[in-house]
This record gives sequence, C-alpha cells and structure tokens, in this order.
Amino acid sequence: MGGNVRDAKARCGFIRFAKKRASGRLLLRAVCKLNPKQKPSKSEAFRDEPLTQDRREHWDRVYGTRRETEVSWFQSKPELSLALIREYAPDKTASVIDIGGGASLLTAELLRAGYRDLTALDISAEALERAKANIRSEAANIEWIVADITEWKPARRWNVWHDRAVFHFLTEPASQDAYIRAFHAATSPGAIAIISGFAPDGPEKCSGLPVVRYDANSLSKRIGEGFELIAEKREAHRTPGGLEQKFYYAVLRKR
Ligand SMILES: C[S@@+](CC[C@H](N)C(=O)[O-])C[C@H]1O[C@@H](n2cnc3c(N)ncnc32)[C@H](O)[C@@H]1O
Repeated sequence: MGGNVRDAKARCGFIRFAKKRASGRLLLRAVCKLNPKQKPSKSEAFRDEPLTQDRREHWDRVYGTRRETEVSWFQSKPELSLALIREYAPDKTASVIDIGGGASLLTAELLRAGYRDLTALDISAEALERAKANIRSEAANIEWIVADITEWKPARRWNVWHDRAVFHFLTEPASQDAYIRAFHAATSPGAIAIISGFAPDGPEKCSGLPVVRYDANSLSKRIGEGFELIAEKREAHRTPGGLEQKFYYAVLRKR
C-alpha cells in the first residue's frame, strides 16, 4: 500500500470499521473516495481475504457469540476424519496436528482412540478455550497452539496433518503459499495429510467469508509436488440448520 493511501487511512477512522464490516473487501472504496487519483493495485482492489488481526477478531467473535453446536461446520463426531486417520496412520504413536481445529472434538476422540501425541492449532484463542472446556481434564493431554497458520513457524514435525475447512479460506496465492510452507516445515517424509473443504458444488462462503473450492485433484495440484494424492472422499455435511454442504477430503502422503 503506498504512502498516500496510508495517510488517507490515518485521516479516516471509519475505514477500519468499514474494513471489518466488509470482512476483508477492504478499504479500497473508501480510499478511492478520499483520494480518487490514488488507484489501489489489483491485489488490493480484489482482496477478499481478511488480514490476520481481522481474521482473529472474526473467529473470536464467532466462537464468543455462538455455541459450537450452532455453527454450520459443527459435527457431533468427526467420523470421516477419524476413519481416515485410523486407516492411513494406524500406529497410535503417530503424532497428529489438527489445523484450525476450532471447537472440534477430533483431538479428544483421537485421545480416546489411543493416540497420545496430539496438537490443536487455531487462530482463535476463544475457539481453543471452548475445545478445552468441552473435554475438561483431558485437555491437559493435548498441546494447544494459538496461531495464524499463514504466519506460524512450527518448532517440530508431525506424522499427520489434518485440516477441515481452513485452507479453503485462503483466497490469495501469497497466503496459500505461506500455508504450504508451514505444512512442509511441520511434516516429515512419509507424513500423511488429510485436507478437506468445500467441494466445487459446495457453498461459495463459509462463516460469511469467501472460500476457494477444490476437489482432491485440484487441492493436490495447489499443494504441489512434495505430496502425492493417495485417496479421496466426498461428504455431504448436514449443517445444524439442516442444509447440505458438499465437502471433499484429500489424503496426501509426503514424498
Ligand atoms: C470452519 S471452522 C472449522 C473448524 C474445525 N476444523 C471443524 O471441522 O470443526 C474454521 C476454523 O479455522 C480457524 N482458522 C481460520 N483461519 C485460520 C488461520 N489463518 N489460521 C489458523 N486457524 C484459522 C477458525 O478459527 C476456525 O476454528
């Protein structure tokens, strides 16, 4: 963003408010009004993706104001994720990280299934507090990390990477690349990744935010050559409101 734009932003307090309300469609219209000669770059003009602080506020607000059973992605038991982890990483010594785990019961279910090295990462501290409260004393057996995946620098590696409905929020190539870098840094050769999100015939938005829809092949292509696609599934998820949402699941193995 150029200096003129920054000055314009500083002069105008409502921009940040507008930015939040638009959830990432950002200040450009306000900037253009303030200074019509200052044309935003194409990437600013078409930015759909919120910045980290806005993302965090969005998700803290979601988890701070709605019960986890009310959000569209709620699952009383993450059956397909559990089945895929058990099938492709049956050894209970495998370490598992759930990216954007939110208030999901996946890590708690894995703990009950005998897995011992479990981590849940989420941008929203509010979400992870919910997840911990749900499983009370068992929470002490899981590692909890509050981080934006696009900025996270992993301090270790895991055998299984699980992501249900997180990568799809990354609509900009630069954030997708940052996710993929974290993904590579956090996994060893032979690691399994289960990545899922809205399928091409799924919704265009999730939690009010735009998403990129994939199938297992296009996801695998976007992730790149370091991982091979070894299995795929589709799921028709039923939201608590009774709507059907089409998901893909891609199982990848790191070469
Ligand atoms: C649609 S919810 C899915 C939650 C969980 N995976 C499930 O299946 O129940 C998306 C989750 O990703 C988290 N999230 C969104 N963007 C993120 C980011 N950039 N880094 C880490 N977590 C993120 C949100 O806080 C939220 O918990």
